[in-house]
Amino acid sequence: MRAVTIQLERKRVEVRNVEEPGIDSPSGVLVRMLEVGVCGTDSGICGGDHGEPPDGSEFLIPGHEGMGEVVEVGAEVEGLSPGDFVVPTVRRPCPHEHCTACRTGNQDFCSTGDYRERGIQRLHGFAAELLAEDAQYLCRAPASIRDVAVLAEPLSIAEKGFRQYIAIQRRLPWLADADDAEVLEACRAVVLGGGPIGLLGAMLLRLYDVPTVVYSRSEPPAPEAEFTRQIGGEYVSSERESFEDVVERLGGVDLVYEGTGAAELMFDVMPELSPNSVFVATGVPTPDGKSKIAADEVMKQLVMRNQVLCGTVNSSRGDFERAIRHLEQMLERWPDTLRSIITHRRGPDDFCESAGSSDGLKHVITMSNAD
Ligand code: BGC
Repeated sequence: MRAVTIQLERKRVEVRNVEEPGIDSPSGVLVRMLEVGVCGTDSGICGGDHGEPPDGSEFLIPGHEGMGEVVEVGAEVEGLSPGDFVVPTVRRPCPHEHCTACRTGNQDFCSTGDYRERGIQRLHGFAAELLAEDAQYLCRAPASIRDVAVLAEPLSIAEKGFRQYIAIQRRLPWLADADDAEVLEACRAVVLGGGPIGLLGAMLLRLYDVPTVVYSRSEPPAPEAEFTRQIGGEYVSSERESFEDVVERLGGVDLVYEGTGAAELMFDVMPELSPNSVFVATGVPTPDGKSKIAADEVMKQLVMRNQVLCGTVNSSRGDFERAIRHLEQMLERWPDTLRSIITHRRGPDDFCESAGSSDGLKHVITMSNAD
């Protein structure tokens, strides 16, 4: 079968024929990959700065945002049949007995670092014609969301971040027994970054009617500004208004959902946040040793304001399932806006060019047109 392959050390990217995977257990499923999204992590992998091939392989098949169609199921698979659309999760558990996270199916909180990730860390990814995967790692997606199901992975990152915010805010005694809606009632949110991670995060917040500002560099008219307007949020360009002024105008900020990986920005923003607020960071910066941070100021505020700085990586099967449900709701409420996140659909030969492109929003690689 055809697959995108990357020899990391040589930074050599090729679309070539590789061995076809097959079902090797009764709970196995064979999937024809239809679409694969690319992001900054893929750009790092294409540049040889990130990622690791599977043991014994000289290359890595990239791709961790995927959707496909089931072509064959093992004898013990329930709830999936040929023709169903599926979205695969990314992380697989580490082998260590003492890792409670992995042993309880919560490998997104793995404590040993020996996890594997499809298309990133020691496991081939989805940029191939076929994928053989255990049914427990595949989430069924209704046909109604077929053209946006590839967004389930990046949205699942926001779902986990959102879940962290709600769990953290229940630390406040008056919210200890509150349901999600009550926790969100008092929330004023700012999303940092107008890329797909930021915009999907903003859309999730707006689905819950949380007042949301997207704070990003581009000046309107820009697709991210238009997107934000259409979902009833406010778009502010950092070129036009300082973060401090935004907070003053809003009367406070309770949640910052970060999707930029810009470390300095995080430390600029932290001292401006309201008491009891939470900063949820999802971006992974590439350290260059150049940053000068106001560490004393940040720590002082963190303590004096009971703030939480929360890092969040990867996502669970539950987050994928929530993402799929929310994509259905988003499609009902903002069909054209949601679809407008995918600005490019290209072929496997363009995998790395798309991953490194700053043109438009989400680039998606079409692996197969089969329906
Ligand atoms: C992916 C996560 C993954 C992380 C670190 C991100 O791009 O969305 O699933 O855990 O990279 O490898």
